[in-house]
Amino acid sequence: MKEQKISFIGGGNMAEAIIAGLVRSGHEAEKIYVADPQSSRLQLLQQKYGVQTCQDRLDLMQAEVVVLAVKPQQIKAALQDFRDMFRADQTLVSIAAGVTLAQLREMAGEQVQLVRVMPNTPALVGAGVSALFSEQAGEHQQRAEYLLRACGQTLWVEREKDLHAVTAVSGSGPAYFFLLAELIQGAGQTLGLTPEVAAKLANYTALGAGKMLVESGRTASELRQQVTSPGGTTQAALDVMFEEGLPEVVRNAVAAAARRSAELGR
Ligand SMILES: NC(=O)c1ccc[n+]([C@@H]2O[C@H](COP(=O)([O-])OP(=O)(O)OC[C@H]3O[C@@H](n4cnc5c(N)ncnc54)[C@H](OP(=O)(O)O)[C@@H]3O)[C@@H](O)[C@H]2O)c1
Repeated sequence: MKEQKISFIGGGNMAEAIIAGLVRSGHEAEKIYVADPQSSRLQLLQQKYGVQTCQDRLDLMQAEVVVLAVKPQQIKAALQDFRDMFRADQTLVSIAAGVTLAQLREMAGEQVQLVRVMPNTPALVGAGVSALFSEQAGEHQQRAEYLLRACGQTLWVEREKDLHAVTAVSGSGPAYFFLLAELIQGAGQTLGLTPEVAAKLANYTALGAGKMLVESGRTASELRQQVTSPGGTTQAALDVMFEEGLPEVVRNAVAAAARRSAELGR
């Protein structure tokens, strides 16, 4: 896989996260091509990672893997230049939220081999989780997995429509945890801590809890019960959270995100 050429249409935040991961994992930077209308963006990516920048669409199309990394509303214009140019031995990996395989095929041409991916922003620090879906098996799946493994964990979903739930859980998910950290920080300040102390405590607590969640081999529920002594301080806080309806709020919030994802895909 390391010898393959990879092109990026769009050199924004998500593209950079994947490029950084690829270069970190030993993919040759000269085999990575990026196109973006902003020359300052291209210059930055070239200086930081040593990738090739190009304006010529034929250069981009030399690659075995083409990553579509523009905003959903920019896809139609971006693919216009490449319509019917994709080869059957090439893989087009789309990271655009909500744009379906059928819509992509309509814009890129029938022969295109597609993989859809829903990544999330922790990919920027190499700790993303991406869900992938494809109707094509074999090499196309392996290529997409290789890309996304470079910036975090990957998993496959069986139905394209599951990507709405994925978007609601992990795509938008970082914001839920950021909100919780923000609220805990604010509560700490209300109790008299300085903003700096409250922020450090909240942020590192989130990091530590996250590491325990993925490294301890225990479920979230087991870990919660383990740190909750009957009649103790944690129990006092959790009682309020349950009594005031936090589980229902979270269920409704995640369902609203999934509904919005489905609406945006129509
Ligand atoms: N960020 C996330 O958390 C996240 C999570 C999951 C999925 N995604 C998906 O990832 C995709 C990229 O998101 P992002 O946050 O990386 O966006 P971004 O930072 O705005 O990057 C998109 C880049 O593509 C450029 N571009 C626009 N039209 C182009 C064209 N025709 N050819 C080449 N480049 C073009 C944009 O330039 P201009 O700025 O000049 O328009 C911009 O630099 C989106 O589809 C989003 O749905 C993002």
